[in-house]
Amino acid sequence: MKKFAGMSVAVLGVVAVIAAMTVSGAAASSAKKSAGIQVCGLMPDTKTSVRWEQFDKPALIKAFKAAHISARVVNAQGDPQKQKTQADQCISDGAKVLIIAPIDSGSAASIEKAAKAKGVKSIDYDRQVEGGSAVLYASFNGHTVGVLQGKAVANALKGKKGAVVAELNGGQEDANAFLFKGGYDSILKPLYKTGALTAGPDQFVLGWDNQKAGTIFEQMLIKTGNKIDGVAAANDGIANAVVVALKAHKLDPIPLSGQDATTQGVQNIISGWQTMTVFKDVRKLASAAAKAAVAIVKGKTIPTTGVVHTKGRGIEKAYLIPPQSITKANYKLLFTSGFLKRGDVCNGDYTQYCK
Ligand code: BGC
Repeated sequence: MKKFAGMSVAVLGVVAVIAAMTVSGAAASSAKKSAGIQVCGLMPDTKTSVRWEQFDKPALIKAFKAAHISARVVNAQGDPQKQKTQADQCISDGAKVLIIAPIDSGSAASIEKAAKAKGVKSIDYDRQVEGGSAVLYASFNGHTVGVLQGKAVANALKGKKGAVVAELNGGQEDANAFLFKGGYDSILKPLYKTGALTAGPDQFVLGWDNQKAGTIFEQMLIKTGNKIDGVAAANDGIANAVVVALKAHKLDPIPLSGQDATTQGVQNIISGWQTMTVFKDVRKLASAAAKAAVAIVKGKTIPTTGVVHTKGRGIEKAYLIPPQSITKANYKLLFTSGFLKRGDVCNGDYTQYCK
């Protein structure tokens, strides 16, 4: 009995020591957590595309977790001043790397400059920062995005000689808007030249504002007397503005591009109102950005796929991921790859189109 009692005291002692160690370990790690983060993800807004909150933010959080990085992902709600404040907060909380999806190049370049002065490195996330000082541009091939959009619209108008194509480009404050336009123009312009297609109205949509896109498209319809046969629209939000306007005027669906593989974009595709969207698997982008951040924190070489030319700074190291075209023929791969939920797309009025 005594022996047992003695042993149990000893066991208890060990248990107590382990308990104390665990508690101090927990205290240390929570202290470490509140004392600092290593990386910050700075998203631009919630309105120009659902992607930033719906796809990028969770993908980044997951990628940071997998890479064992303590991190924070915030959204500036379209306000460059807010993005600056968020960046400052990140740096004062200990961040060594900022992953920035800029709202406009000017404000982001000044965030990067201030960060650099404090020894904090920046990664341009999805959008190039003209005149910036990031150590990497992690994105998708923007020219290819535009080529896929242009090809889809051109193919859908084959045999309709002289069909009028309108262009609704992204915001001119975003370098991507020019990459996408360069891509679809590389397909469309030669066809305008031969007369196979006709160049219609062509406008940028400042701030990628979906509502403004609707107003601009309404004006395009007035200007052309509804004679628009196809639209190169830069993303799904802009494409949906076109769909809404066409429906309001009781006009038929026309060849129409999009981008981001959003639930709404896919619903417009399966119901016959949008020709295609571009699937940019942001899970791959988030993981590339997280890997780059780890390399930076550990002082190792950052993985790259090549370089890009960025205005106002020259050559910038880049990690570019190929985008993929999505149509009625292959949209289901968005479900099988777990990017979208079938139940989100195939519901209500849209159930009938999901076979
Ligand atoms: C992104 C697109 C997005 C658009 C509006 C672009 O820079 O590449 O995916 O739809 O911004 O947010």
